[in-house]
Amino acid sequence: MKRVAILISGGGSNMVALARSMTGDHPARCVLVASNDPQASGLAKAAEMEIATAAVDHRPFKGDRAAFEAALLEPILAAAPDIVCLAGFMRVLTPGFVQRFEGRMLNIHPSLLPKYPGLHTHQRAIDAGDAEAGCTVHEVTAVLDNGPILGQSRVPVLPQDTAADLAARVLVEEHRLYPDCLRAFAAR
Ligand code: GRF
Repeated sequence: MKRVAILISGGGSNMVALARSMTGDHPARCVLVASNDPQASGLAKAAEMEIATAAVDHRPFKGDRAAFEAALLEPILAAAPDIVCLAGFMRVLTPGFVQRFEGRMLNIHPSLLPKYPGLHTHQRAIDAGDAEAGCTVHEVTAVLDNGPILGQSRVPVLPQDTAADLAARVLVEEHRLYPDCLRAFAAR
């Protein structure tokens, strides 16, 4: 049985979808949900699902990424995960952190990579007049939003879409795509 740690920064809707998917004959189970924000509402959702949680506030580290990551690594390594899933995790990780989990760390990004790495992906797709948008599950490498792609899901961009409309449409796909990709990855 593969052990999965999920890192969140906010509501954790992707974390909930992933955790709910890991039941029955699924080859993995969620063993930890960790956040860089002790107030992340996803932590309470994980606790309700009886999943261990941990939080390390990144703010006191004032930009010392390595020190923050050293603190965050403690509960993660204690959980001995086989796979780490970033799910709405909004901190850029140093190559040092990524290398520890190279080849077994996944992320979901709300665009059809390689288009629109980084932030504000939905507004950028709308501004570009794209007919389609979507989300990508990829392996995490030292280059932001760039690793091998495990899966993508496409949605139409409609003429009157705001970024919020498009984000909501894509989020539905995220909640299907990420569990599908994790299951296939864990079954390798
Ligand atoms: C989602 O748009 C996801 O694509 C991005 O973070 C947003 C919030 O995710 N990575 P969640 O609801 O916290 O899972």
